[in-house]
Amino acid sequence: MLVTSSTEQYYKTIQNLVNGYAGLTFTGSRSNSLDTALKLLNRRHPQLNELGLLSLICEDPQILADLTDLLLVHETYFFREPDLLKRFIDLVSKQQTKETNSRGELKIWCAGCSTGEEAYSLAILLDERLPGLDYRILATDLSLSALRKAEEGRYSQWSLRGLDEATKKKYFVRSENSYSIKNASLRERITFAQMNLKQVTSLTPEWTPLDAIVCRNVLIYFEKPCIGRLSKLFFDHLDLNGFCLTASSDPPLAPNSGFSINAGNCGIVYTKATPANLTHTINHQPNILAKSVHRKRPEEILKATEKKPVDEAREIATTNGGNYLKALEVYKNGDCKTAIQLLSSSTNKNDKKVLTALNLRYISHTGKRNDIEAFLEGLMQKSPCEEDELVVGALACIELKVLRRAEVLLRKAVYLDRKSSYTHHLLGVVSFKNGDLTSARKAFCNAQKIADGQTVLEPIANIEYTDQARFCLDIERYLCLIGEKNNNE
Ligand SMILES: C[S@@+](CC[C@H](N)C(=O)[O-])C[C@H]1O[C@@H](n2cnc3c(N)ncnc32)[C@H](O)[C@@H]1O
Repeated sequence: MLVTSSTEQYYKTIQNLVNGYAGLTFTGSRSNSLDTALKLLNRRHPQLNELGLLSLICEDPQILADLTDLLLVHETYFFREPDLLKRFIDLVSKQQTKETNSRGELKIWCAGCSTGEEAYSLAILLDERLPGLDYRILATDLSLSALRKAEEGRYSQWSLRGLDEATKKKYFVRSENSYSIKNASLRERITFAQMNLKQVTSLTPEWTPLDAIVCRNVLIYFEKPCIGRLSKLFFDHLDLNGFCLTASSDPPLAPNSGFSINAGNCGIVYTKATPANLTHTINHQPNILAKSVHRKRPEEILKATEKKPVDEAREIATTNGGNYLKALEVYKNGDCKTAIQLLSSSTNKNDKKVLTALNLRYISHTGKRNDIEAFLEGLMQKSPCEEDELVVGALACIELKVLRRAEVLLRKAVYLDRKSSYTHHLLGVVSFKNGDLTSARKAFCNAQKIADGQTVLEPIANIEYTDQARFCLDIERYLCLIGEKNNNE
């Protein structure tokens, strides 16, 4: 077609309409597909010229939907990106072993499922690798024609190109030139539904909170604002410890959506980490306890019991370290409540600090927002507050997602004790999340200076702070890097 300014305008108008309806963008070769789609649409309405077609698209929402349907790319196949699917199974298994997942039934959203291969692949994998698991999959797409095919569950040999013979035999019935999903139980696990990701604002309550979202090869069609809105929607609909998987070629979810990011070769895993896990990801240490409990104190106590005269050592081990060591042991075994009981009668100042941190950990795990708020206010009423208490207060604020207040408390904590790498580090992360990059950088540099030898901090401390975007990216990467390390631990 000869491109004149009026045809350009014609295409632009239609692109805007499609973009407004379904979020699709038209860069590169996608502008050619618009031309093809318009020709196909025109064949259905041969009496119309360009202008007539344009008015029809503008006036009739069904015609706009039809045109969009012609533009959607449904490319998919069974077991696409197998490494990423393996990751999915590993993450689900991990979730299952967590005591926090007590609802029983797992809820998974497969967003942009096309003709259903992806949703069935997830179901087959769960069936194979985690037999007996109770789960449901919500598989959605904008395209009704694709969803019809998904419901039917009948596929060509080409769609099954990623499957071995044994799996084909087990899960499909072969007819002359197609394969149909055999297992009714597998089909029953999946609900196919039409959903426009550009317009959706929430899922029905029966599907929330979700344990996992798989949205692969869909975000590539959307613009940044749409991805930003979806990132938030995904985050809000996931349960704590829930995760979202995108494909290796997808653009990233919005950096400020709250996810903890873990990048691997096969794609990115976005986890809705509990704040405690978040600090774990960030600092190699579960929380403030790590600072005082996991590392220094047992060593200090052991050193004391080794070097000091027997009586003195016994005294430390019983009055101070006796219950403390037991508490440490049970806490490590996941029994926070008993650890609290063991320390609650202690008059030792350090034990009390540890007890405060344990209490927050316990309340965060089992309590409600109100309980955490009450805990925080109780803590802040103490005057003067000590550095450790301020840090626990900041952790409570992180739990409550009031990051500005967390930053204020951490600043006070840093003022009281300038030598804590942990506190500087936490301040760096909170400042970063609050968008104050200058402070974040300063705090990371301070943490690096203090934590001599902690080379993980180096990439951040050495970033030339001339390019803000680069700085953000490097921090995100850095958080990923640490997340990776923790996963391997
Ligand atoms: C390339 S397929 C990806 C299929 C599958 N997720 C996979 O990775 O194999 C992209 C799918 O996204 C769907 N899609 C595009 N825009 C959408 C929107 N606004 N809402 C819902 N689905 C959309 C398309 O209909 C298409 O089926």
